[in-house]
Amino acid sequence: MRASAVLLALPSLALAFTIPSSGSLFHSKRSDSWGGSVSLGPSKSTIVNAVTTLIPGTAPAMQNGELFLWPGMSNGTGDLVQTTLESWPDNSWCGATAGQWCVRASVFGGFGQLDGSASAVSGTDHVRIEYNLESDGETWTQTVTNALTGAALSSYYHKSGPFMRGWGTGTECDSSCTGTIAAQQYLDTVITLASADATFGNTISSAGGATYSGLSSSSGGKVWKIATIDVPAM
Ligand SMILES: *[C@@H]1O[C@H](CO)[C@@H](O)[C@H](O)[C@H]1NC(C)=O
Repeated sequence: MRASAVLLALPSLALAFTIPSSGSLFHSKRSDSWGGSVSLGPSKSTIVNAVTTLIPGTAPAMQNGELFLWPGMSNGTGDLVQTTLESWPDNSWCGATAGQWCVRASVFGGFGQLDGSASAVSGTDHVRIEYNLESDGETWTQTVTNALTGAALSSYYHKSGPFMRGWGTGTECDSSCTGTIAAQQYLDTVITLASADATFGNTISSAGGATYSGLSSSSGGKVWKIATIDVPAM
């Protein structure tokens, strides 16, 4: 949720979570639309760490609206922790050139959108995005790096609480955006729960032509891995 002033709108998560009546708050803009997605949740336990590596594909050379790619994490009513890859009509604010994305760690909540610093990334870059619950049990740290070089791209921390139960990908098209022109791939997604939930894997769902492979768990269902998630171009 970058641009619209609405509560949790991750559509796949919303499905998985059984939308509460506040669902009517979703999507204030009719022109918003969504690409493919894969999501899991709600978990019986709570999420304490989630990491994935996104290969975003080339961004549209020209952008009409706003286009966002993000792995998001929420509990259905609270903050949406979402590092976003962003395509705006002018992406020079992060130093991006045509075909590149801006990436920044970000939180969407009742306060609006809070952002870390931004960097430019190319379509073939491997963008590693980690969400970690700190030892205070409240603070989520987002750490965004280039997985191949280790270079820091963005970071942010915010007290979003210990009750995260859903994780999913979003391809969000706002203000009549120019949609994705290339597929996205999420590699080596690992979601770690506070305690084992052997049934968490059963909550996985996909939409809009997205597919996943290599869903597995270890430690009796405490650690869940998805080897690849493929999201087609819009
Ligand atoms: C979501 O997290 C917030 C912040 O910790 C909390 O106030 C809220 O009760 C949680 N909602 C659910 C459904 O767990």
